[in-house]
Amino acid sequence: MTPEELAALARKAAENAYVPYSNFRVGAVVVAADGTVVTGANIENASYPASSCAEATAVNTAAAQGIRKIDTVAVACIDAGTVDLAYPCGRCRQIMAEFDTETIYVTAGEGTEIRRHTLDELLPHRFEL
Ligand code: THU
Repeated sequence: MTPEELAALARKAAENAYVPYSNFRVGAVVVAADGTVVTGANIENASYPASSCAEATAVNTAAAQGIRKIDTVAVACIDAGTVDLAYPCGRCRQIMAEFDTETIYVTAGEGTEIRRHTLDELLPHRFEL
């Protein structure tokens, strides 16, 4: 899949976000090393810390399907206001690190801007066991 196609799929995934508290919909796409594609969206909870970011939903869903090596994660938000580029939060960076994610695409708008990052850029000196 091209970065543009990944961005479009992430935007599509964001449509399933459950965001009654923030009204900020985020979608994520995981492409595993074996080619498996898994999508996720942010799912909020009345107990706010129990919420799941889109990246965490997608990565952990992939892991629950047996995926252990991730090539790519693409992220998009579709309620751009003050935030247009949906950079993964610190917790999601650590979650992506668990499965050796190679490439992270942070996208904006209708895929009008697509930034390619490595995990080393987004989470240098990370904790690993
Ligand atoms: N959120 C994500 O799903 N991914 C990000 O990269 C940043 C933030 C979610 C968490 C919460 O549901 C909403 O966006 C507002 O913070």
